[in-house]
Amino acid sequence: MPDPKQILIRKNCPLGPYNTFGIAAHAARFTDVYSTDELRAALKVQTQPLLILGGGSNILFTRDWPGMVIRNCIPGMAVVRQFKNRLWVRVGGGVVWHDFVLWAVGKGYGGIENLSLIPGSVGAAPVQNIGAYGVELKDVFVELEAIELATGKRFRFSRPDCRFGYRDSIFKGPEKGRFCITSVTFSLTKQQHRLNTRYGDIAKTLEAMGIHKPAIADISAAVIRIRSSKLPDPAQLGNCGSFFKNPEVARTVLEKIQTVEPEVPHYNLPDGRVKIPAGWLIQQCGWKGKRVGNTGCYEKQALVLVNYGGATGAEVKNLAFAIIDSVEKKFGIRLEPEVNML
Ligand code: EPU
Repeated sequence: MPDPKQILIRKNCPLGPYNTFGIAAHAARFTDVYSTDELRAALKVQTQPLLILGGGSNILFTRDWPGMVIRNCIPGMAVVRQFKNRLWVRVGGGVVWHDFVLWAVGKGYGGIENLSLIPGSVGAAPVQNIGAYGVELKDVFVELEAIELATGKRFRFSRPDCRFGYRDSIFKGPEKGRFCITSVTFSLTKQQHRLNTRYGDIAKTLEAMGIHKPAIADISAAVIRIRSSKLPDPAQLGNCGSFFKNPEVARTVLEKIQTVEPEVPHYNLPDGRVKIPAGWLIQQCGWKGKRVGNTGCYEKQALVLVNYGGATGAEVKNLAFAIIDSVEKKFGIRLEPEVNML
C-alpha cells in the first residue's frame, strides 16, 4: 500500500468537471485513486465527511463538499472465466460504463448493448441498477467487490446480496455510504445472444436504419441513436439523465387518472401495480421545455432537468421540488428523485 502521505490531495478543488450537471461546487479535499491499494491509502487520510465519486452522472451538489472526495478511477477489463456460450468479464469500478459497452460490442459479446451510452462509471452502475430499453444491470451481473470505507476490508457481493430493484440496490438503502465498489463481474454471451428489441422505439429505429436481422452492434447503434435524439449530451448541456424515478402505484391511482386522462401511458407490474412514466406526469403539469433561471426541464424529455450554464445545485433542487409538488397536487403522486442530492 502506498504511504498515505504520498497520496496527491488537491485542496479547494473545483467539482465542475467531475459532475455531469456541471455544477460549480468545490471540495475541501479531492483525490483520484487508481487501485484498491491507493484507495486504502486515501482512506487513511482522515478528512470527514467522505464522498466516493464515480462518473458524477447521478449527483447534484447543492453546496460545497466540506470533506474529502475520492474519485474511483480503478481501471481494468479482463475475461476471468470461459463457458461454452458465455464468459465472465471483471471490470474496474473506475471504467467509464460506455467504454465497457463499446469494448463488449466490438468483441461481439452480448447482454449490455441496450445499455449503450448510459453516462457514469462501472462502479456506480450497480448502486442504482442502471437500466434502459428492457435491460437492467442485474440481468448480466455476477458479483462485485467492494472496500469497506471504515476498515479498508474487501467484501464480495453476489446478485442476491445486492437486492436489486428498479433503480435500486442495497447500496442505496441500508448500506449507503459504507462501501466503494472496486470491480464488477458481468456474464456476457459469446453466441446464441438474447437480443432484446421489443422495448420502445428499438424495432422502429432498426427498421429506419434498414436492418432486418440485427446483430449486437446494430442494437447498440439504434440505442445510441434513440438516446442522442431524446437525451441531452452532458458535454453540451449539463444534466443527470432521468432526474426522477417512474412511480410505481396502485391500479386504483391509475384508474382515477384515467377518468380525466384516458390515454395515460402505463406498464403493468407483476405484483398488480402499475408504473406510470414520470415524464408524462411532468409534461401534463406544463413543465416540459420550461426554463427557470439557469435551469429547466428539457424540451425533448420532461424527466430530465438541465443546466443552461451557471446553475447552482440549489436552483436545480428548487425546480425539482416545484415539479414534485405540482405533480402531487394534480395527480396525487409524489415523485421520487433518482439523482442523489448532496
Ligand atoms: N413521456 C412523455 N413526455 C416526456 C417523456 C416521456 O409523455 O417528456 C412518456 C411517453 O408516453 C413515453 C413514455 O413516457 O412513451 C416513456 O418515455 P421513455 O421511453 O423516454 O422512457 P422513460 O420511462 O421516460 C426510462 C428510464 C430512462 C431510460 C428509458 C428507456 C427511468 C427513470 N428512466 O425513461 O433512463 O433511458 O426509460 O428505457 O426509469 C436514466 O435513468 O437516466 C434514464 C435516462
